Order: sequence, then C-alpha cells, then structure tokens
Amino acid sequence: MPSPRPLLIAGSIATDHLMTFQGKFEDSLVVEQLHKLSVSFLVDDLEIRRGGVAPNMCFGLGRLGLHPVLVGAAGEDFGDYRSWLERHGVDCSHVRISETKHTARFVCTTDSTMAQFASFYPGAMAEARHIELAPIVQAVGEPEYVLIGADDPDGMLRHTDECRQRGYAFIADPSQQLAFGEGDLIRRLVDGAALLFSNEYESHLIEQKTGWSADEVLSRVGVQVTTLGADGVRVRRRGKDDIVLPAAKDVRAVEPTGVGDAFRAGFLAALAWDVGLERAAQVGCVLAAYVVETVGTQEYSFTAEQFLGRLEHSYGPEAAADVRAHLS
Ligand SMILES: Nc1ncnc2c1ncn2[C@@H]1O[C@H](COP(=O)(O)OP(=O)(O)OP(=O)(O)O)[C@@H](O)[C@H]1O
Ligand SMILES: [Mg+2]
Repeated sequence: MPSPRPLLIAGSIATDHLMTFQGKFEDSLVVEQLHKLSVSFLVDDLEIRRGGVAPNMCFGLGRLGLHPVLVGAAGEDFGDYRSWLERHGVDCSHVRISETKHTARFVCTTDSTMAQFASFYPGAMAEARHIELAPIVQAVGEPEYVLIGADDPDGMLRHTDECRQRGYAFIADPSQQLAFGEGDLIRRLVDGAALLFSNEYESHLIEQKTGWSADEVLSRVGVQVTTLGADGVRVRRRGKDDIVLPAAKDVRAVEPTGVGDAFRAGFLAALAWDVGLERAAQVGCVLAAYVVETVGTQEYSFTAEQFLGRLEHSYGPEAAADVRAHLS
C-alpha cells in the first residue's frame, strides 16, 4: 500500500478549564449593586480538558493510526499538550509558538442550576494569521487535503486563499465561526472546497449568510457532509444520490463535546484509506460514538477489534471487512 499523502489539520488549539460551584450564583448577586460587581465563588472542582478543534481531530486520526500534521498557534505553555498529541501520532512540529501569548483558554464556572460564567481568551490563536502553509508543505510533502477548521478568522481566510492559490485541495469546516462571520467571509471560506463539513444547523446558517440556496452551496463544493446529531449523517454530491446513514447503534450518550470533530477524524481517515464515502461516513459515526460515551474530547480508546466490532454491529460485516486491512 502506498503511504497516504499528508493531511494538514488547521484550527484552534485550546484548553478548557471547567469549574463547578455547588451553590447558586443568583444568591450572591445584589441587583442594586451590579455596577460595583465583585464576587468570588469558592469552587470545589477544576477540570482541565484538552480541546481546540484541530487537536481534537488530530487525536482521532492518530487513534486510527494516521499521522496528521497539526497547523495552528499556541503559547509557551503548549509543552504538555504537545507531548500528549505526539504520543498519539500527531505531528506538532509545525505548530507556531507565540512569544507573548498563552494558548487559547476557555474558562467556565457552572453553578448548581447550570447557570454559567464563562470567558474565552483567544491568546496565541490570533497568530494563526501569521502561519503560511507553503513551508509546511515543503517539509511534509504535497497534502491530500488541508482542513480549515474554526480558528482566528483572518487565519482561516489566509489558509483558504493560500490553498486556492497553490492548488492544495481544501476542506471547509467553519463550524463555530459561522455564528460570527459575515456572508462575505463565509463565501470565501466555502467556495471551491473539495469537501464542506457542518452540522444541520450550520448548513442552514451557511445558506442564510451566503445567500446561496442549498443547491448553490453544493455546486460550489465537491462533497457536502452534514451531520445530523443522533440521527446520523447526510452526504451530498452533485448528480449522484445522497448517502443518508443512521448514527452508530447502541450509543450511551454521556457528554457530546467534540463529537463533530471525532466524526470528521473518522471520515478523513477512511478517505485516506480510499474506502469510499459511505464507509467514510460510517467510520466517522463510530469514532463519534466513542467521544459521546466519554467525558472530554480526547479520552477515548479502543482496540482495532473493538472498533471493527462496532462498525460491523452498526453497518454490517462488509463495512468491517473493508476497514480491517487499514486498522492494526
Ligand atoms: N447522541 C448521539 N448518539 C449517537 N451518535 C451521535 C450522537 N450525537 C452525535 N452523534 C454522531 O456524531 C456525529 C456528529 O454529531 P453532531 O451533528 O451533533 O455534530 P456537531 O453538532 O458538530 O457537534 P459538536 O459541534 O458539539 O461537536 C453524528 O453524525 C453522529 O454520527
Ligand atoms: Mg460542530
């Protein structure tokens, strides 16, 4: 088997710091004193989770035996996270390390009523706009795809434009940035993509913001993959029947964070194995199942046999047979 061409995965690199407060924020807020607001909550739990869309996807690809190239910007504090990703097969040698900013961080405290105080510090992520793909490609070889996930918007645009200029096939995966971006930005991120990923809500947002109809969106990308949550996934191509698949069977949903990223990792791994779009969607759904069943986005593991067993249980023996040769 020829070794697959490299996959470049660009997107946010971040950690989530999640705290829980046993009381109610409400009890500490004095409405008449809000202009002098200064409160502190004694929290009894701190969880630090690895996140960012690009490492989430890279981790999933690594779990399936691939060696994706992480493209993004982080801070000096990236060391531990780097080691973790490298242990799982991810090439982190091209991550840009900021000299002045920390890695992006989401800090959130949730109280007993699920009310939240949250802040997002983009930090080093804003330096994604200074990353040029060409030197990375020179080092790792011509990419099969460059995936451009949610990141610093100027960075996303720069990567997309560079892909168009240099003729790298790119995958548009704007996800969270769709809520903030204007039509013009979104049109530039999507137009000409080999593949467009989104969930169903985001697919409507893309149409609304770009002003393109569903068919027009499809006419501007090679393949459109829309995930439907617990209902599975739909894959559309021009001039061919849609592929619509249910989610993996017997999933015990615990916590959904990162499920979309895991789906993409499975899908891209299967594309690299060249087993077709239907298998790609199936592998994506099975990898996503592992994430929904665990707390955190990079905490799941499985043996090749377990993965193949789940693939067979959900999609039949032929699906497992086609994938078997690629999982070791
Ligand atoms: N409850 C569930 N049970 C089984 N599979 C699920 C469930 N939720 C999601 N999935 C799988 O994960 C895929 C992606 O889910 P979804 O459409 O919710 O992504 P998303 O909205 O981008 O998620 P997020 O952005 O929160 O990571 C689905 O296509 C499906 O295969
Ligand atoms: Mg998503």
